Amino acid sequence: MALTKKLHIKTYGCQMNVYDSGRMADVLAPLGYTQTDAPDDADMVILNTCHIREKAAEKVYSELGRLNLLKRRRQKEGGDVVLAVAGCVAQAEGEEVLRRAPYVDMVFGPQAYHTLPEMVARISRASGAQLNTDFPSEIKFDHLPEPTRASGAVDGASAFLTVQEGCDRFCAFCVVPYTRGAEYSRPPAAVLAEAQHLRDLGAREVTLLGQNVNSYHGAADDGSEWRLGRLIAEIAEHTGIERIRYTTSYPADMDDELIAAHGRIEQLMPFLHLPVQSGSDRVLKAMNRRHGADDYRRLVERLRTARTDIALSSDFIVGFPGETDSDFEATLALVRDVSFVQAYSFKYSPRPGTPAAELDGQIEEKLKEQRLARLQDLLNTQQRDFNETCVGRTMDVLLDRPGRLPGQMVGRSPYMQPVHASVPENMMGQIARLTIEAGHANSLAGRILCP
Ligand code: SAH
Ligand code: F3S
Repeated sequence: MALTKKLHIKTYGCQMNVYDSGRMADVLAPLGYTQTDAPDDADMVILNTCHIREKAAEKVYSELGRLNLLKRRRQKEGGDVVLAVAGCVAQAEGEEVLRRAPYVDMVFGPQAYHTLPEMVARISRASGAQLNTDFPSEIKFDHLPEPTRASGAVDGASAFLTVQEGCDRFCAFCVVPYTRGAEYSRPPAAVLAEAQHLRDLGAREVTLLGQNVNSYHGAADDGSEWRLGRLIAEIAEHTGIERIRYTTSYPADMDDELIAAHGRIEQLMPFLHLPVQSGSDRVLKAMNRRHGADDYRRLVERLRTARTDIALSSDFIVGFPGETDSDFEATLALVRDVSFVQAYSFKYSPRPGTPAAELDGQIEEKLKEQRLARLQDLLNTQQRDFNETCVGRTMDVLLDRPGRLPGQMVGRSPYMQPVHASVPENMMGQIARLTIEAGHANSLAGRILCP
């Protein structure tokens, strides 16, 4: 067997999966695996999957079909490629994966990837497909090695850091509580150490991740419990990380300390992804959300009082079972009232095993499409308007990737907009002060003030 082996990881879905993929690479590195962008070169291919909507899950099976051809070709040549399905599809339907794609070698959920070396060893002893969909997050985090640059833990100058995993909210439409399990918060000391380590690897920005990140309640060594506001304050004070973001938050879990943090902590960026899902109280109740539309409006007001320029982003679902025209109008009204700088909106997709999938009043696809188009029209207009109001302003932009044109780089504004600018090469990974010259549908163009 060759000493170095090639690993290809294809990541679907959320930022948590991006983080997990990096950590899988870290776990496999001691076994001689280095990453490759080309599945055709790989000795092992991991699909790190998403189960949130039906389309996301189906994509995995078509990709597996293609990989099976690669596997057969390899086997004909006397070699092999190990095929693994990780992430939430693996967790939710592990047995089904093995039934539909029996050639898969390993199936493991988001809480089991620290056992990868063991699974790899078992396969090489040819003892059949490995299925591992155990749950406990706390064990996983204790067994993960430190993130490395090679695994992509720090992409440009920005890094993800998982602080919380799982969700206990059980929104009626959502698979996350089933695929990611119960809420678990990593201890503050572990988070601070990882933030410091990422800083040492060159990260200037860290995005704290969790399925319900603002429910964070980490047990500190002195027995006290830290909420997210405290955690952010300590990261800001002790690690030298210059920009902090967090995602994804649940409206009812925005506590006073966290709201105040937005006004107080300079490193905390003025952008918040705060999914509301619907503007109708009736639908929100049926969704088992613990907030009404006006609670959300009031929360936004408080955030804007704490930090006047805070920019909001959200998630919406249209066509939830029983959604009437007037429910949908209430969603449009909320969007008009709040004004979002960016948003994700989806047609409701029934997920097996979730309560909403069993509800009467499922909405026709066509109507969902019409509502989605109207909502997206409004959201796109708001996004463009916001981008246009940025013209003439000066913003600090963390330049962290090459642009499409030679001499160009792209970075993120404090408000998460991608900003393109022509800048000297040595600015990569730097925070540059740019004047915004143009605002487009999805991005800004900037000019450097003092190169
Ligand atoms: N807090 C989570 C949210 C998970 S899902 C996180 O980011 O980790 C992201 C978004 O997908 C949700 O906010 C919701 O708007 C959408 N979504 C979840 N389940 C869905 C379903 N069954 N159909 C359509 N959209 C869904
Ligand atoms: Fe899903 Fe609701 Fe939790 S959207 S991740 S169950 S807050």
